[in-house]
Amino acid sequence: MNVLVAGGTGFVGQHLCRELADRGHSVTALARDPDPTDLPAGVDTAMGDVTAYDSMEAAFEGRDVVYNLVALSPLFKPSGGDEMHDRIHRGGTENCLRAAAEHGVDRFVQMSALGADPDGDTHYIRAKGRAEELVRETDQDWTIFRPSVVFGEGSEFLSFTRKLTPPVLAPLPGGGKTKFQPIHVDDLAGMLADSIEDDAHTGETYEIGGPDVLRLADVAKLARKAEGHSVRIVSIPMGLAKVGLTVADAIPGAPMGSDQYRSLQVENTTSTNDIDAFGLEPGELTTLADYLGVSSPPRS
Ligand SMILES: NC(=O)c1ccc[n+]([C@@H]2O[C@H](COP(=O)([O-])OP(=O)(O)OC[C@H]3O[C@@H](n4cnc5c(N)ncnc54)[C@H](OP(=O)(O)O)[C@@H]3O)[C@@H](O)[C@H]2O)c1
Repeated sequence: MNVLVAGGTGFVGQHLCRELADRGHSVTALARDPDPTDLPAGVDTAMGDVTAYDSMEAAFEGRDVVYNLVALSPLFKPSGGDEMHDRIHRGGTENCLRAAAEHGVDRFVQMSALGADPDGDTHYIRAKGRAEELVRETDQDWTIFRPSVVFGEGSEFLSFTRKLTPPVLAPLPGGGKTKFQPIHVDDLAGMLADSIEDDAHTGETYEIGGPDVLRLADVAKLARKAEGHSVRIVSIPMGLAKVGLTVADAIPGAPMGSDQYRSLQVENTTSTNDIDAFGLEPGELTTLADYLGVSSPPRS
């Protein structure tokens, strides 16, 4: 199939482009400033900004499938303000759907996130929820993926956790008890690729989690253990973290704000884990500990 991956030069996008190309699909990655050296041989690039329709719509011509993986990270305060989430995740999706319709693309795969909800607690989660609503209204065949955090080569989640938790002693809001269900990027890329090869996935919204439920503190311990360090987590009361990050909201350039405080309180796990829709069981997926080459930490 002829596939366009919007956001194909990003972390998940690069792995997905490789997986699709390995399966024999013709793949083009769209981004604002794509660097072909980020992509496997044989993957083409197209330049376009999903928030500017005229800059990107031509790239949709002749495609059988479009993936929308364009992202603005929820881990940091956007430099253009929190409203950027709506502009990129909802507005960008609206433009991608419009371009797909205009150019007769049959199939649309949307990357959302666990907890996506138009009335959710953060700008990111609300924008993801609104984008999902638009996808469900489209005439094209669609599939929506809602993964937990994704790890693997190039993962922002692990580097973010390391930044948050220096070796030896690391203060974390609420002791880092918020739970995640990290999924390896290649496991996810395989499911994303499968989704266009079987019509059974049309009209489905899949919650995707990895094999283990880990607290943020567990992730920090694993990441430090892999570097030969240990880390002791010190709990900062949530109330104190809230005050700090709310104050940070008002400081231009501060990397985190009240949205990041709210997202640190929301569990990022799935009770339904839909990996079985792809014939997978948790034991077949890569664990974070395996990826890091360490044994699992004791529960914190
Ligand atoms: N990584 C995770 O842990 C995780 C977890 C749950 C859900 N997700 C979702 O998975 C998807 C992929 O995430 P990711 O981690 O791969 O993100 P990423 O590494 O930040 O990649 C984002 C991609 O989007 C492109 N992009 C950003 N703004 C754009 C714009 N205005 N127009 C066109 N392209 C633009 C970027 O390239 P340029 O900057 O060069 O334009 C890049 O190719 C996103 O929908 C994300 O919300 C990710």
